[in-house]
Amino acid sequence: MDFLYEAIAEDFERLEEVLADAFRVEGDLMGEVADYVAAGRGKRLRPAVVCLAARACGYDPAGDHHILLGAAVELFHVATLLHDDVIDRAPLRRGRQTVNARWGDDVAILFADYLYATSFDLALSTLEPATVRMLSRATQQMTQGEFLQVERRGQWLSEADYMEIITKKTAVLFSAAASLGALVGGAPAQTVLRFGQYGLDFGLAFQITDDTLDYEAQTDRWGKRVGSDLAEGKQTLPLLRTLAVATEEDRATLVRVLENGRDFATVHSYVARYGGIGHSLDRAGDHCRSALGALDDVGLVNEPMNLLRQIADRVLVRTH
Ligand code: IPE
Ligand code: IPE
Ligand code: MG
Ligand code: MG
Repeated sequence: MDFLYEAIAEDFERLEEVLADAFRVEGDLMGEVADYVAAGRGKRLRPAVVCLAARACGYDPAGDHHILLGAAVELFHVATLLHDDVIDRAPLRRGRQTVNARWGDDVAILFADYLYATSFDLALSTLEPATVRMLSRATQQMTQGEFLQVERRGQWLSEADYMEIITKKTAVLFSAAASLGALVGGAPAQTVLRFGQYGLDFGLAFQITDDTLDYEAQTDRWGKRVGSDLAEGKQTLPLLRTLAVATEEDRATLVRVLENGRDFATVHSYVARYGGIGHSLDRAGDHCRSALGALDDVGLVNEPMNLLRQIADRVLVRTH
């Protein structure tokens, strides 16, 4: 999504300053962890959505609310990743060792808590309490999503279970990002809701493609270990689809593999045979179309709207 950074370079420059400031913390250990986390930059997709939605709704970019909220959403996102990597016992994130792998779960949990608080503080500095409420509601839902995933560990998931989990753990934050932008852009309630719908569908497409990349990512830019969902015992759409359409015999074999070591190459061969990736990308495509439909309903015509459309189009072909 490099085109995005060029299109709103000014916003990104200011965003980086606010983030750098947020990561300037006291204490030897905490300072070390903060520097490490700050240096492992992600794609900044959620703040981009905040800034674009605000600009699309006519927010004066000389103001700073879209930047503060973009930074709040990014810090919030990083906090959820830190907690998620503890929950998933993940070794690798953004191409580097995770904080939990390097310093331990205690450090990762505490630093994520600090980032959550900083995120709310930034949102509050816009003096718009509705923004803080959006973030706290998103926290509640994301926690519920992660809870559900923990609760269902070791059980067979339905596609509906999977959709509920990814709605809560991922799509809700993209929805909040788009809604927050529209809100500070002064959009009417109906429009804020439509941006929220855009974010929700975009987020679903984003997580589904993420789950396909977990089977098939080709580049180091992916930054996570391929096959980690399976290693963590996570049933994602490519696998659920394969289990649903396989012959009785293949299904029984696959279930045996899943119950005995979950060998990635074997599971991958079944997913490939039954088109699990293609099916998942088709579903992601459905959500991209819905996201674009929500933008059509907004009825605004301007460059930031075009960019929001482009990111939805490109999510299907992303490689990292
Ligand atoms: C990772 O999100 C978590 C998921 C929702 C799949 P991103 O892929 O946006 O993470 P970064 O911020 O670019 O590292
Ligand atoms: C998505 O969960 C991350 C959050 C919503 C916190 P996953 O566990 O599926 O994502 P990755 O693969 O660790 O990024
Ligand atoms: Mg994870
Ligand atoms: Mg997880």
